[in-house]
Amino acid sequence: MGIDVSEVLIPESEIKDMVKRVASDINRDYKGQELVVIGVLTGAFVFTADLVRELTVPVTVDFMQVSSYVGENSTGNLIIKKDISTDIEGKHVLLVEDIVDTGRTLSMLREMLMGRNPASIKICTAFDKPDRRVKTLVPEYDGIVIPDKFIVGYGLDYNGLYRELKEVCVVSFTDT
Ligand code: IMP
Ligand code: MG
Repeated sequence: MGIDVSEVLIPESEIKDMVKRVASDINRDYKGQELVVIGVLTGAFVFTADLVRELTVPVTVDFMQVSSYVGENSTGNLIIKKDISTDIEGKHVLLVEDIVDTGRTLSMLREMLMGRNPASIKICTAFDKPDRRVKTLVPEYDGIVIPDKFIVGYGLDYNGLYRELKEVCVVSFTDT
């Protein structure tokens, strides 16, 4: 089975406009405050880098790597592969994700980080597939809403590949 990623869903210019729009909302909301940005690895490394360079509020940046799985007798578990080194107690935290799909990962991650007593936690995602949600999760900063398709590029991968694409493409599977 082959992979085809030639269908561009979101061109580079549209992504750039989205980053500027989201950043200006964040700059407005956090004016006069300091922000701890936590990028969720690996997918969010591209969006995080672009986003923080549009911010005008003082910001520190850290990264976390997590994965979630649904076991037979559980609604979901969070595995922390890499934790942040920042103490977020009393701080305003912005979680930055590449895409929200079922919402499982971010709802568990937010819950876990709440236990560390930050002043606030908000979620910012580049892309959003609300049709696939199983957990109620509404990102405070929602980049671009997309249909239920598997996408790659702008940090998003298929089996580790295509993260470097400047635009977002749809993955289709071919017989050849
Ligand atoms: P969740 O289902 O909201 O917990 O999303 C888990 C993770 O699945 C996301 O952070 C992405 O890494 C990955 N993911 C979901 N949809 C896509 C997609 O269309 N392309 C690439 N990765 C995806
Ligand atoms: Mg991810």
